[in-house]
Amino acid sequence: MKKVNKICCIGAGYVGGPTMSVIASQCPEITVTVVDINQARIDQWNDTDLDNLPVYEPGLKEIVEKTRGKNLFFSTEVDKAIDEAEIIFISVNTPTKTYGKGKGQAADLKYVELCARNIARVAKTDKIVVEKSTLPVRTASAIKSILENTGNGVNFEILSNPEFLAEGTAIDDLLKADRVLIGGDDTPSGQEAKDTLSAIYEHWLPKERILQTNVWSSELSKLVANAFLAQRVSSINAISALCERTDANVAEVSRAIGTDSRIGAKFLNASVGFGGSCFQKDILNLVYISRSFGLTEVADYWEQVIIMNDYQKRRFAENIISTLYNTVSGKKIVFFGWAFKKDTNDTRESAAINVADALLEEKAEIVVYDPKVSEKQIYADLDYLDTRSPEENRELLTVVKDPMEAVQDAHAIAILTEWDEFKTYSWESIFEKMLKPAFVFDGRRLLSKEKMEEIGFQYYKIGQS
Ligand code: UDX
Ligand code: UDX
Repeated sequence: MKKVNKICCIGAGYVGGPTMSVIASQCPEITVTVVDINQARIDQWNDTDLDNLPVYEPGLKEIVEKTRGKNLFFSTEVDKAIDEAEIIFISVNTPTKTYGKGKGQAADLKYVELCARNIARVAKTDKIVVEKSTLPVRTASAIKSILENTGNGVNFEILSNPEFLAEGTAIDDLLKADRVLIGGDDTPSGQEAKDTLSAIYEHWLPKERILQTNVWSSELSKLVANAFLAQRVSSINAISALCERTDANVAEVSRAIGTDSRIGAKFLNASVGFGGSCFQKDILNLVYISRSFGLTEVADYWEQVIIMNDYQKRRFAENIISTLYNTVSGKKIVFFGWAFKKDTNDTRESAAINVADALLEEKAEIVVYDPKVSEKQIYADLDYLDTRSPEENRELLTVVKDPMEAVQDAHAIAILTEWDEFKTYSWESIFEKMLKPAFVFDGRRLLSKEKMEEIGFQYYKIGQS
């Protein structure tokens, strides 16, 4: 096994930042450098005010405070970091392609390929290259071929080490991981590389939780794990629609089925729809590779998870419109939450974006309050859809910092993210401030129907008639 002194990670995002911070804190003898081409992002990671870190994640700033400048560094000097490191993690983003072959489904690997070419150009000593980004199956072999054909004759071992952390609980997930997956070649040098990476995780995790597989199994397992999780959410969301038409209550159904140990209780919360950077993208990848191997039924099966999710978001928006007497034009609708889930400032694929878009098409006036998401990000999310001009988006939707100011004279409130603070609000005073009848559409099943109705609200909760 190789002795590791220096690690580098290319990509200082939601995955690279927290993962490397935890490795640095658990491996004090290893110097960890996180590099990124985005200077602004690196400046934020180096900001003396730890509240300005680019990623909000409970417990993160405490770890960064302890390790930054000691054995954790953030920098834009990509080449230098590559040159010095024995292990290089690739953790750049892999968005769904918006052009060409595989548009709308396949992952765009251009950043990963750029990284590989850069490593090939710079490396003068043997390296272990670890793919941390979620990638479609076979990417490791693409990286390998780039490195082997363009490198300076040094030896590269490519490992797949997918990240299973969930945002909002990233630090805990990293420290108490159910498992770590390391895929690599079964050759002697491949085995040595797997053991070298394994030794890093063994600083804080028991050895039996570190699973070694071949590269393909590792790459595919990441997609499948997310597909299974998303499938559970889509399954319960499908049932939520049925519950609303009958006297069944989705919370009771979840509990009843979740206590079956074969099913289990987790990921059975009905919601306005799942979001996040991974679920949709990974399932689309699974669909894409299945189709490309001619496995139409397999592709259709998994695609239905996405179709169900789109339906759930659309259904929520349509219910708001029909309940508000079939017109929301000029009506003030307040969004509580914009992030794709609580305890993160990440908004990628958040259900709020599509719900807002549908309501804006009907000329609603939306006022957004989210405790952690910036105004800039909210407009960027909307503008990205390209449904209307940026000017129109700014005219119809405003972002506020005070939830109580937002609800003044509002027709309705829609809860899009399950932030804990929403539960602690004085809903009596919110009711006073709103126009009557005062509507609340709870997309996260956060509040008590009885209490809300007692106050006087017209209250709708996903999955309950
Ligand atoms: C991760 C994974 O990498 C992705 O595959 C997974 O599906 C979602 O989570 P994440 O860390 O969330 O991505 O992405 P992001 O926060 O966008 O961070 C990626 C960083 O890589 C950005 O800061 C970007 O500037 C940087 N980058 C990108 C480079 O440094 N070099 C490049 O060539 C491209
Ligand atoms: C996910 C995986 O959990 C993680 O292992 C992987 O590495 C990255 O993708 P993340 O996207 O951060 O993590 O969030 P997750 O907690 O899985 O939630 C995804 C979405 O599903 C959120 O929008 C969440 O609100 C929604 N969800 C989750 C539900 O609607 N109901 C549930 O019961 C659980």
